[in-house]
Amino acid sequence: MKNKIIAPSMLAADFGNLQRDTEMVNESKADWFHIDIMDGVFVPNISYGMPVLKAIGKHAKKPLDVHLMIVDPDRYIKHFADLGAEVLTVHYEACTHLHRSLQAIKAEGMKAGVALNPHTPVSVLEDIIQDIDLVLIMSVNPGFGGQKFIENTYKKVSQLKAMIDAHNASTLIEVDGGVNAKNAPALIEAGANALVAGSFVFSSESPMDTIANLKEVITK
Ligand code: DX5
Ligand code: ZN
Repeated sequence: MKNKIIAPSMLAADFGNLQRDTEMVNESKADWFHIDIMDGVFVPNISYGMPVLKAIGKHAKKPLDVHLMIVDPDRYIKHFADLGAEVLTVHYEACTHLHRSLQAIKAEGMKAGVALNPHTPVSVLEDIIQDIDLVLIMSVNPGFGGQKFIENTYKKVSQLKAMIDAHNASTLIEVDGGVNAKNAPALIEAGANALVAGSFVFSSESPMDTIANLKEVITK
């Protein structure tokens, strides 16, 4: 997997023009498609499910980075593998047997990710870090796009980076929520490898230029 990744969140796309927005991401400097799946139980919102992911996947030419905000995600691991997910991320707070869930994701040929809510310390992953391909640090409370970035995230990213290095692990760090061109450089500086951006990209006048700009500020 590449370093310094921009993953536009399709939650902020225009659902009436999903093919257009998917093709825009294909043509842009983005690296991944970030796909937010919410069940109305783990988070107080329902986004979209398998049929919509299938529609995006039909046109997407870049890896699908799927973020499950659902309870009992083990039930759907195979479904998401069949839909072409390259990275499948489950929430730490939703998995009683996290180690088992990660092995099940890998057994389906996907990269295994773990997301942490803002209140969950990175230290809970100490004993499992070598088994994780990607840790997604939530920089807002999951459930909605367009929220304000939580400043404590920088500290969490640095702590996680130190943990990954101490264990000689190759885990990627992804940050999700309220990311923009202002906070992106400091997140990369703290150790982040991948940044999700939803409203910052899709609410801008030219999403394509905004993605290029984000990519530029994190690679220089
Ligand atoms: C929030 C989702 C995010 C969201 C980010 O629960 O996990 O991926 O789409 O949106 P912005 O970038 O608008 O905060
Ligand atoms: Zn997300």
